[in-house]
Parts: sequence; C-alpha cells; structure tokens
Amino acid sequence: MQPLRHHLAAAAILLLAAPAAAAPPKVAPILAEARDSASYARPAEARVTHVALDLAADFAARRLSGTATLDLQASPAAREIVLDSKGLAVRSVRDGAGRPLPFAFGASDPEKGAALTVRLNGARRIRIDYSSAADAEALQWLTPAQTAGKRHPFLFSQGQPTLNRSWIPTQDSPGIRQTWEARITVPEPLGAVMSGERLTPKGERAGPGRRAFRFRMDKPVAPYLIALAVGDLAFQRLGPRTGVYAEPATIRAAAAELVDTEKMVAAAERLYGPYRWGRYDMIVLPPAFPYGGMENPTLTFLTPTFIAGDRSLVGLVAHELSHSWSGNLVTNAVWADSWLNEGVTSYFENRIMEALYGPARASQEAALSWADMEAAFAELGRDAPGTRLHDPSDAEASGIVYDKGATFLRTLERTVGRQRFDAWLRSYFDRHAFEPMTSQRFLADLRATLVRGDRALEERLQLDRWVYAPGLPDNAARPDPAAFARVDAALAAFDAGGGAAAVPYAGWTTAERLRFLNGLPRTLPQPRLAELDRALGLTAGTNAETLFAWLQLALANRYAPAVPAAERFLLSQGRTKFVAPLFKTLLAQGEWGRPIAERLYAKARPGYHSVTTGRVDKLMKP
Ligand code: BES
Ligand code: ZN
Repeated sequence: MQPLRHHLAAAAILLLAAPAAAAPPKVAPILAEARDSASYARPAEARVTHVALDLAADFAARRLSGTATLDLQASPAAREIVLDSKGLAVRSVRDGAGRPLPFAFGASDPEKGAALTVRLNGARRIRIDYSSAADAEALQWLTPAQTAGKRHPFLFSQGQPTLNRSWIPTQDSPGIRQTWEARITVPEPLGAVMSGERLTPKGERAGPGRRAFRFRMDKPVAPYLIALAVGDLAFQRLGPRTGVYAEPATIRAAAAELVDTEKMVAAAERLYGPYRWGRYDMIVLPPAFPYGGMENPTLTFLTPTFIAGDRSLVGLVAHELSHSWSGNLVTNAVWADSWLNEGVTSYFENRIMEALYGPARASQEAALSWADMEAAFAELGRDAPGTRLHDPSDAEASGIVYDKGATFLRTLERTVGRQRFDAWLRSYFDRHAFEPMTSQRFLADLRATLVRGDRALEERLQLDRWVYAPGLPDNAARPDPAAFARVDAALAAFDAGGGAAAVPYAGWTTAERLRFLNGLPRTLPQPRLAELDRALGLTAGTNAETLFAWLQLALANRYAPAVPAAERFLLSQGRTKFVAPLFKTLLAQGEWGRPIAERLYAKARPGYHSVTTGRVDKLMKP
C-alpha cells in the first residue's frame, strides 16, 4: 500500500497538469444587459431552469405529443411566466399539484411565433400538455423513400437559432440556460437519440408496438441545443469516448470517414482545456438535413454530404467538436453576437486541423476561409453595416460571422504570439464556462486578462474596430501566400490559354481543387468548359464541395452537359448551402435557367427541409 502522502502528491500534480473543470452551476446566470429580441421571455421576472419532456412521436400525424414540465425561478412578485411557442396546440397547463393554470397566446409573428403566458398562482413547477404542429419548423418527418434504407421513416429536429419553440414550449433564448431530461416513445423497431446522456440505449417497452428512450442533460444548456433524432439507427464505436450513429446502410462509410474523431477530441483538449460533456458521438442524418453539421451537445448532427471517401471534408467534424467549447460551453447571449459562436469555432476548428494534419493543410483551409470573407465583402460592400462582427441587423453573412470572426482571432494570435493567445483562450473558456457571452464582455475579458493596460498593445489590436466597425481593420492576419502557390500558378497558365490537361488536378488536395475551381474566370466559353470537364472529370465528381463549385461555374455559363448532374445533386441532398446558391445561379440565367430551376424545384421541394424551402421559395418568386 502506498503512503497517503503519495496519493496526495499525485493528486496535486494531476490538478496542476489539468485543472479540474469547474462544476456546472445548477442555475445558470442571466445577463441583464443582453436583451434577446428574438424571444418573448422576460427572464428577470420568471425563468425556466429545467425542462422535462415526455413525448410520443406520431409519424402518421407528424407530431410530437405529450407534456413538458418546467421548473421555474421567479421573483416573489411575478404573477406570470412568458414562454416562446410556435404553432403548438396546448390542451392544458397545470401546477405541481395538478390544478389548472390560466394561459393565453399572444399575437403570432412569422419569425418569433407567439408568446405563451401562464398565470403562476404561486407555482414554481408547471406542466404543459401539448402537441407540435404537423409543419413544425424544427422537425423534419421523412418518409421511408427519403432515407438511405428506404424502409423506415425518420425524424430529426434542428433548433438553432429559434426553431425549437415549434416543439418545446420553453424560453427559447440562448442566454437562458436550462438543464433537461426527456422520455420519448417511438414505434418499433425505431430508436431515438438525443443531445444528452443516453440512459436507455436499447429502449424500454412502452405499450404495444412502442419503445421508450430516456435522456438527461445535467449541465445547463441553451435551449436551441436540445435535439432529437428517430429512425432505424445503427451505432459504431470509434474510440473510448466517441462513436457514430447512422442508418445501417450508411454506418460503414460514416465510421470510416470519422476514424480520426477520438484524436480530434484529444487535440482539442490539449489546445483549450477539458471536454466537459462526457461522450462525443455523432449522427449522420439522411441527406435532407439542411446544414453541414449542428453541434448538439454529446451528439453532433452531420450531413451525409461530408462523406467524400478520403476524409477530406472532416474539417466539418473539427468545427462541430470545437463548438463544445465555443458555443455550447460559452454561448452567444443574443444572435447578433453569433460570431462568438461561429467565428471562435472556425478559428478553433483550424487549430484542430493543424494539430491532426499539419500546418500545410491548415493554412490551405485558412486561405479558403479568407477568400470566403473577401467574397462577403465583395457582395455586401466593403463598408456595409452587415460586415460588422457584432451585427444587430441580422444580415448573418457567413463570410463575416465565420471567416472575419476567425480572422479576428488569428490576428489576436499573431499579435500577442501563439503561446500567450492560447493561454488566454483556454482561460476564457474556463472563466466563462456555462455562461452567456456578449461582444462587450468578450472585449472586457480580453482587456482585463490579455491586454492588461499595455497601451501600445491596445492600439495595435484595434479591438473595437474589429468588433463594432464594418470592413476589415488594417492589422488583419493574412493567409500564407505559399498555401496555394502551385494552384495560383496553374490558374495563371490556364488563363493564358494553357490546356486543361496540363492542370495537375489529380495530385491536389480538396482545398487546392476548390481554390482552382473558384479561381477560374467566372465567364468561360463552352469549349473551355468542356475541356476542363473532360480533363478533370468534374461533372462526374463525387466530392460534394468540389461538385458544387464546378456546378456553380458550369450553370452560370449555361453549360448544358452539367444539367443532369445538377439535377441528381439537387435531388439527392438538401443542404441549404449547396441548394440555394445553385437555384440562384440557374435563375440568374433567365430564359435558359429559369425553366430548369422551376422543373427541378417542383421535383425536389417536397424532399427539402423548411430551412431550405424557406430560402429557395424567396429566390423563386418572379
Ligand atoms: N451551428 C452551425 C449551424 C447553424 C448555424 C444552424 C446557424 C442554424 C443557424 C454549425 O456549427 C455550422 O456552422 N455548420 C456549418 C459547417 C461548418 C464547417 C462551417 C454548415 O452547416 O455548413
Ligand atoms: Zn458552427
């Protein structure tokens, strides 16, 4: 037996090496100064601290039905609580003892939904008996035909930014963190997974032909992070803390693409501190999922379009994993500050890519991000209000929120040095774990703990310009010009009349290929397009990102041989980032493109998510 002293010394060393993560607060703080215009809640008077769901999934009626029991914290004077809701049918609201409580819906707004106000009569726990609407925007109910296996239906939810109020009657604001638990019943043989601890992996009997699955999230999270998926699900372990769910038809390809996930978690921890959520699993959803990924805690949701066969698009996984710090642990209190989630995450993502795959790949991906930022400046106008990081206008250009945001962090890193910057960012996550964050607090933290009164440094950083002013400050950290040197040389040669066969495309990385395709002149004659297509095998491509880049160029030039591939692509996946720009490009081609767009949209629309149809419907209006 070892002396006690020894144990203590070992424990002390452990503590020094990896400071134990602070326990999450039971009731998370609210920032009085951060008013969320996207929510009806008035949390200073009464707020939700815990949500307990007991819901049945009804695939025939396309609704979730059951109860939400809310634990509240309210000032003694509070007579009512205001919740968010969208399209919910509420049958009753009762207090802890089962007594009915009066409730009323306010006027309905197409974005915000309707306030659901409940008279408390002193209650601090209320139970709402309700159903979601068949067209609830957070929920996509897929027919068997829309799945990979074609035999069973599928359901998934997407909460960010303000959609969860269409299936959960709570205060749907990222600054109002809530713990939660859930019991979901589904028809056999389907399984259910959620973004919390999965307590009953195999489910429990719940009456004839149904099974119940239970979940728990004991850390307070922003309510947009409560997520559910139901379907014919297989699971493949990847590492001690990591694994992937997918339909049986997809699980092998998914697991192969994701082999590096456990290493990514370890790299992320080495960079910025402990992963605090227990497991990191992922689910690869059917192709109608409208995003690349969604950082639902303990269970990232992924599009199948990231499966390229060569792991070239796993930056997506590094991105969603990074949100376990920037976004899920420290969370934008209002959506006008979403750069605090997405910009910090895009920077963090790139650091994971560097740690796993080396600086060459990381600097190529950073250079692509810079180009996306430049494209946003070109589109919005260099000094447009929508180019501010803190952007109350809701413009939400990803080239700003993600890429200017990441450039800001890269600029901080280069100015103070990587070591000092990393120590600061790591301590930022520790200091603000499980808290809401605002631009103002972010800058105050930087000044208090990194700048620390150094006037020369303060001047060099231009912090306020970065966060509050449009455009790009002149200290911006530029990408490594060597990152794409050989691609840019090939572009110049092609531009000067060189043949497509001379382009060494086959030997390039996916980032280099994207640089090449996006760097080609936007107007090209048909023979040049045909030559490129033939030499590089573009129309036949299977990498979703490079196929998309090629289709954008081909359709903008009315290159007819690409139309069948565009049709296949638009009918086989529903990711908004791919679908909306392709329809926009077709529509810009007037009498050539509009009929194609209309024909394809008529076929594809029924398979798309409301997020995607919402965008494309607007484009299609004559
Ligand atoms: N959190 C976002 C997805 C999101 C953003 C949903 C805003 C709803 C509103 C997610 O982390 C994300 O950024 N996904 C990107 C992928 C990434 C690699 C840039 C996507 O979906 O393309
Ligand atoms: Zn993100």
